[in-house]
Amino acid sequence: MINTYIPYISKSERKLLNSCLNSTFISTAGPRIEQFENLFSKIFKFKYAVAVNSGTSALHLALLTSGIKKDDIVITPSYTFAATANAITYTGATPWFIDCDKKLILDISKVDKILKEKTIKKSNHLIDKSSGKIIRAILPVQTFGKSIEFLEYVKLAKKYNLKIIFDSAASHDPKIFNFKKSLNSIFCFSFNGNKTITTGAGGILATNSKKLASIARIYSTVGKKKSNYDYQKIGYNYKMTNIQASMGISQLKKLKNIINKKKLIFKYYNSNIKENSKYLKIYDKKFVNWVFVLELKNSKIFEYLKKKFDLNKIQANFFWKPLHLQTPYKNFKKSNLSYSNKIWKKIFVLPSHPGITKRDQKKICKILNF
Ligand SMILES: Cc1ncc(COP(=O)(O)O)c(C=O)c1O
Repeated sequence: MINTYIPYISKSERKLLNSCLNSTFISTAGPRIEQFENLFSKIFKFKYAVAVNSGTSALHLALLTSGIKKDDIVITPSYTFAATANAITYTGATPWFIDCDKKLILDISKVDKILKEKTIKKSNHLIDKSSGKIIRAILPVQTFGKSIEFLEYVKLAKKYNLKIIFDSAASHDPKIFNFKKSLNSIFCFSFNGNKTITTGAGGILATNSKKLASIARIYSTVGKKKSNYDYQKIGYNYKMTNIQASMGISQLKKLKNIINKKKLIFKYYNSNIKENSKYLKIYDKKFVNWVFVLELKNSKIFEYLKKKFDLNKIQANFFWKPLHLQTPYKNFKKSNLSYSNKIWKKIFVLPSHPGITKRDQKKICKILNF
């Protein structure tokens, strides 16, 4: 089987994992966690990083840390992974689904227009006219790990007095984060096994705000600050383990190598998939995204490719189905989602893991050039 993603693991992970097992620090105590956080902060240019047990936990903590409460509303795209919206509901708030743009990212001009029309400002809060609820935050997603106009979202958040959290789950090219971060922004990463670098399962909440990082850390460690039985908040058991962090350190140390491998893989796809009217390549030359994606002209091409890929034992499935179309999310607030409605059946993700062979890539390109 040629998989979409396979983690890139070698001797170095085994070595660090063995040393972690030998140390007997296999749970949420141990030196590797802080080492992992520090290394991540250094590479991705954040001042603070809080390592947790999943990207979903990072999102949940980011929302709590931003003061999101029961009955609040958080603006987010419908075209995303379930965890983005799930984390919002864990706080007792609900998502307001807004459309994505042609780059498959939360449509900033639509958000602006909708907020202008459907909200009012009352004593420093943004109120949804129809429900009377407070809109407290905006949560854009870096679809496919792409770079987005971070500062434009920050500007928008400032305009409407909203907290800002970025779902950066699959965005592992450090170059993307080489910009001056505003103090109130929080970024949430995932290190699940299908991501560019992995800790098995895991995540990080990253920010330049000491205060936000400190609150998030307390929430992540069952509400403890210093002493084991001295609680500051009702917290969560979300901290990353020393085992996961050991794996993470090893992955971070070879991140450059992984990124270079992925660069070559994406370059190969880009130059060997012939330009034609059937596809649009979603290929970012400046940064390495999580996967190489094709936007198909129509969903019939999807059916054709799916058959061919299945026959050749190459993994192919629909990618994200917009959340507002799915039962658990269908009653949440939504505005015109016309682009999300039509685009999701045309998105085709190619096997993109760093270990894929030229032979397999050649096979894939041959099918695509029909
Ligand atoms: C956009 C997005 N957000 C959040 C998550 C959740 O991360 P995790 O699986 O580590 O909980 C994912 C995971 O794939 C994701 O793709």
